[in-house]
Amino acid sequence: MKETKNSNQYNIQWFPGHMAKTLRLMETEIRNVDACIVLLDARIPLSSLNPEIERIVSRKPRLYVLNKADLADPAVTARWIRYFHAADAGCVAINAKQKGGTAAVKSAIDKELSTLMARRERKGMVGAKLALMLCGIPNVGKSTFINTFAGAARAKTADRPGVTVGKQWVAAGKYDLLDMPGVLWKKFDSRHIASNLAFIGSIKDDILDVEELAMNLLDEVRTHYPEKVAERFKLSEEELELPPYELLECIGRKRGMLISGGEVNTERASVMIMDEFRASKWGRISLEVPPTHDDLDDWDDEDDWDE
Ligand code: G4P
Repeated sequence: MKETKNSNQYNIQWFPGHMAKTLRLMETEIRNVDACIVLLDARIPLSSLNPEIERIVSRKPRLYVLNKADLADPAVTARWIRYFHAADAGCVAINAKQKGGTAAVKSAIDKELSTLMARRERKGMVGAKLALMLCGIPNVGKSTFINTFAGAARAKTADRPGVTVGKQWVAAGKYDLLDMPGVLWKKFDSRHIASNLAFIGSIKDDILDVEELAMNLLDEVRTHYPEKVAERFKLSEEELELPPYELLECIGRKRGMLISGGEVNTERASVMIMDEFRASKWGRISLEVPPTHDDLDDWDDEDDWDE
């Protein structure tokens, strides 16, 4: 792990060797699959859309799956689905933990690959399996997805070509699923994206400052969901508007997180805030909304992604 602090603490080079290896493996394996399933976190669909993965999977039909939709704001998730559909991309929202949560993925994949299946049937390739590559950033729910997707149909891995044959292929009825380890970006050159990935737990906490993270998270959430923050921490209207550090102190004090001299243990309060958010204790929250046309015109300006 290598960290650079040239411009700010988010300029992080965090790209372990195994991630580079996974990308190389994906480059090879993409030739052996019929389609890709790109798992995204429904709370941050764009920040969890890894451009490295995107570049590789763009060669095949693909389906974007907004996972953890049970944690996201349903109205915003509906907007995201419309956003992907408007770009002619297949997209479904699911909760991979739910039994049958992946059924929508199967029917979307079948629809996406119906022409291919018909062609194979005409050629007499009856029973040929559909090979799917599953990819996404760490912690997005890949393992959970595979368990639900394969369910009782899960079988011994199929014999398919590939560098690590038999290791990551999971046979699930008429589908063969190629599980890829989570891949992060080569470089988080966006403070906005790095923060979002940290909020949902895809970047390890120890490479970012937890107090700054907690303050950023509070700031972000109180802007869009003030009632949820106020309710969770029993904040008055005035308290909810405090500057970030004072708000953090206020919350810590309310939770009795004090050190000698009556000062607030802001580090402990920050850890509590991050843990609570990740455990969805504040309710269903989305941290990103689809970009508007104006945003897309200013695509280079990362901070314009928010509305
Ligand atoms: P990964 O393989 O992509 O790294 O992710 P993994 O499946 O391990 O999932 C990461 C965490 O996200 C797990 O929680 C998992 O239960 C949770 N998760 C996955 N999909 C969903 C979903 O659709 N909704 C919700 N609410 N959670 C989901 P954990 O706390 O790390 O483990 P566990 O205690 O739940 O087993």
